[in-house]
Amino acid sequence: MRPQLITWKSKRALDGGFALGSCFGRVSGLSLGMCAKDEDIVTSAAVFGGVLFHLHVFPREVPEDGLFEAEWARLDAKRAALIVPLEAAGIAIHEAEAQPQIGDWVMDVIVGHGDEEPLFIGAHRHSTQTHPMAGALPRIAMPKEAPSRAYLKLEQALAWGGLDNDRVLFGKTALELGCAPGGASYALLRRGVRVIGVDPGQMDPMVLRFTGPNQARMKHLPISVGDLGEEPLPRQIDLLISDMNLAPPSALRYIEWVQNRVHARHFILTLKINDRAIERAIPSFLQQLGKFAPGELRVTQLPANRREICVVSGV
Ligand SMILES: C[S@@+](CC[C@H](N)C(=O)[O-])C[C@H]1O[C@@H](n2cnc3c(N)ncnc32)[C@H](O)[C@@H]1O
Repeated sequence: MRPQLITWKSKRALDGGFALGSCFGRVSGLSLGMCAKDEDIVTSAAVFGGVLFHLHVFPREVPEDGLFEAEWARLDAKRAALIVPLEAAGIAIHEAEAQPQIGDWVMDVIVGHGDEEPLFIGAHRHSTQTHPMAGALPRIAMPKEAPSRAYLKLEQALAWGGLDNDRVLFGKTALELGCAPGGASYALLRRGVRVIGVDPGQMDPMVLRFTGPNQARMKHLPISVGDLGEEPLPRQIDLLISDMNLAPPSALRYIEWVQNRVHARHFILTLKINDRAIERAIPSFLQQLGKFAPGELRVTQLPANRREICVVSGV
């Protein structure tokens, strides 16, 4: 065990279909041991038996504000160095840009601080419940003018949900419950998404003035979600977002009530996990949510999440 890395021993044999199944484990898989030298990667790769795999190289520890350019450059250099002995041994891998498809094998190479820590090597199979990016880390930087860290949270959630492309988002409408001061709304507007935001709190004036591509603007309803009853809302919303700092039982009640009106095709929800009792009740919250969500639930704790988890669902 080292910061942000936990290993367990299993009493029974585990096969390639092993999945930890915890929303708090961002990447999990079978351990292939450690590599002290780059050349040792060839021995670990033997487990794939000649099947093409993706090589994901990522840091063991991730600061909550993400990684800076210099750290990404160090990781990219490490990936390039690992490919040399693999190629020399005739082991082919997918291109760095290729996103894993369901069922593809991924070799996870976990890089510690400095060069003295050995590499930790693991393997997992990509599924609907695993992140397509190395270390579940999209390379997103927060613009200086973004009014809150929710910008980063929303962008990471879009990447996790496979929603980070124009085909899904451009020209669409989002309804955000708990939108102030506007970090997430700003991220959506920049992607050409119209936003209706509900929050009695103050919005950043820059976000209210901002016009994104496709004339995307924000409409702020300065009220509590409980007072939405009289407000006209579109009959269909593309994306329902909730980031209200309410305990999950109250937040879920409101989300279900709103969903019955707007029939959103996608959800991005933050559930606040403020104590152990709430943490233990996560499975029952998810069961409740599953009854009215638009599709399968995908749950994770994003790098930018603090005491909260992110649930994504879509048709
Ligand atoms: C974490 S902040 C949201 C950050 C925001 N998503 C952003 O992008 O900047 C939580 C917000 O939930 C709002 N909130 C709490 N209870 C609410 C309710 N019943 N209805 C609407 N908003 C609520 C708070 O006013 C607060 O602004």
